[in-house]
Amino acid sequence: MSNFADAMLNWFDQNARDLPWRIAGQAHPEPYHVWLSEIMLQQTTVVTVKPYFEKFIKLWPSVEAMAAAPLDDILTHWAGLGYYARARNLHKCAVEVCHKWGGKFPETEEELLSLPGVGPYTAAAIAAIAFEQPAVVVDGNIERIVSRVFRIEEQLPKARSEIRAFAETLTPNTRPGDYAQSLMDLGSGICKPKKPLCGECPVSSMCKAFEVGDMEAFPKKAPKKVKPTKYAPVLWIENNQGKVLIQKREEKGLLGGMMEFPSAEWREQSVTTDEMKTLGTRLIEELGLGRFKHQVAAHAPIKHTFTHFHLFLHPFQVTLIEDNSPRLNWGQWVDHRELDSYALPTLMTKVAGRVLEEQKSLSL
Ligand code: ADE
Repeated sequence: MSNFADAMLNWFDQNARDLPWRIAGQAHPEPYHVWLSEIMLQQTTVVTVKPYFEKFIKLWPSVEAMAAAPLDDILTHWAGLGYYARARNLHKCAVEVCHKWGGKFPETEEELLSLPGVGPYTAAAIAAIAFEQPAVVVDGNIERIVSRVFRIEEQLPKARSEIRAFAETLTPNTRPGDYAQSLMDLGSGICKPKKPLCGECPVSSMCKAFEVGDMEAFPKKAPKKVKPTKYAPVLWIENNQGKVLIQKREEKGLLGGMMEFPSAEWREQSVTTDEMKTLGTRLIEELGLGRFKHQVAAHAPIKHTFTHFHLFLHPFQVTLIEDNSPRLNWGQWVDHRELDSYALPTLMTKVAGRVLEEQKSLSL
């Protein structure tokens, strides 16, 4: 084994984080737990994932239980974790593991890669952690460590193949799962993007960037593209029983299959609050909900950032005079106190929070 892997494993034995998907004293964690945690940890932090992971294994203790659950239940409990395609693929994958693999996760990287929602990083992580395969696991944290240890001058994302080749030279055949997780823990607590704690690092003596003293300059990154900003009104529509209207988004695309308050098209031109009001009014008319009583001036806009753009949603509150809801064959009227039993993404939870907060302050 390389000195590097040896030093990392010794450090891990003393410093491993206590995480719910790592069971102390258990040589091989449950593949179902490893898979679930790795899918949740894609694009989401350990702190956020922990309670979701615990809730999911309580609700669905096995891959069979998850495969048997309705997709909408999974989407509802996933709400708040973001990147909702992951939840849809989670369900698809559970079904596939049950139907195609007899309820047992496949063990090789190649077979794991064939599963829905499992990309190269996740396949390698599951193979290493659950099945002790010497797979080369490279996530964002590990990219940072390797690029510092070898002072890789190439910029990301181009540098990925070089980083991977170097990572491969360090990966041991023994305890590959612990080794991968030791790097994840080092990246999160010690080899941090800013102000790394090199004094506590078990491999600083083997790190070229530490030798030179320019750790923070790595990994080198290509300049980021500027994200566009989009704008739209969003409607909080109450009927005469005080219920609010939500609808299901299309299954495909951004926030696919999640619930939302109706909004006009998200457009790149910025518009004034008055123009937003006009757009909002037009949307109510288009929805064919009948006459409405009042339209409270715009609440402050909600800002939300997606991977590829920023979004400003301007909430408008509308109360219907005639209640056309019996004619409504889309959407659902719900009690706002029960909104958390629907699959509302964080963006829409923010809209509800803002409207309810303002309603409360107006009635005080
Ligand atoms: N990030 C992704 N997978 C992880 C794991 N198994 N432990 C800690 N952080 C992680």
